[in-house]
Amino acid sequence: MTPRLILHAGAGLRERTRASAEQIEARLDDILTAAWAVLTAEGARACVRYAVEQLEHEPLFNAGTGSKLQADGVARMSASIMSADDGIFSGVINVEGIAHPVVAADRLHGVPHHVLAGTPALDWLRCAGFSAHDPVTDQRREEWREGRAGRTGTVGAVALDATGVIAAATSTGGVGMEQPGRVSDSATVAGNYASAMAGVSVTGVGEHIVHHAVAARVVVRCTDGLALSDAVLRTLDEASQREYQFGLIALAADGSLVANQTPGVQTLYAARCGERALSFLQAPALHWPAKPSPS
Ligand code: GLY
Repeated sequence: MTPRLILHAGAGLRERTRASAEQIEARLDDILTAAWAVLTAEGARACVRYAVEQLEHEPLFNAGTGSKLQADGVARMSASIMSADDGIFSGVINVEGIAHPVVAADRLHGVPHHVLAGTPALDWLRCAGFSAHDPVTDQRREEWREGRAGRTGTVGAVALDATGVIAAATSTGGVGMEQPGRVSDSATVAGNYASAMAGVSVTGVGEHIVHHAVAARVVVRCTDGLALSDAVLRTLDEASQREYQFGLIALAADGSLVANQTPGVQTLYAARCGERALSFLQAPALHWPAKPSPS
């Protein structure tokens, strides 16, 4: 099996950042290249963890360092990871003061309770050796002072390795200015899911993503026999009828790849299939192998 990798940096072109589309694409491409090396050397799970860790490290993106602030001025971050080889979903919800929520989510893979939230989660992480890190950047502090709420922003990665294992990881700083304690989709099976048939990472309005159980819905459709492209298009069609707003990246066991979204959303993605690299500046939606798309 030729490995496959797809990353996203949110659905946020319509939320202005100081970076141009070209700068965002260049950064995504760098991370894609580095993560590809991890995919071929260490497999799908290590790859998605590494890719999301790099995306969290980049202050341009709304996850880890550069996370948006909730209404009380605190950055609370959520992340999850799932690999089809053991089917364990693990995650952290609304954790503060760490550099890499996806690494925290990965650490919870190996303990009996796989999803932890809030202050007790942070206490556990400190005991597990996660050191203090302030993820708040000057730009996010300024946005919060100006009361600028968003509606989107998340990062994610889905990979298929040479042994056929699929893994997905997703991380977010939330939408900004939300009610403290709001739970986003990113550390739920609506925002991130992987099975032997398919893996999905979602970005966009968390409430819409949870109402629609997006990642799990697409994966179950593939498990029941639908091609990935059809599973995604049917899911987006249903979501559009409810005026939900989100984008997703997805990958299936047959090697097919998709990046697509509901109307009005632009998913920022970069993908690699063998030697071939693809990115969001090249096409608004990606169905590979090619598939006509309504968007
Ligand atoms: N999808 C990110 C959030 O709604 O918080």
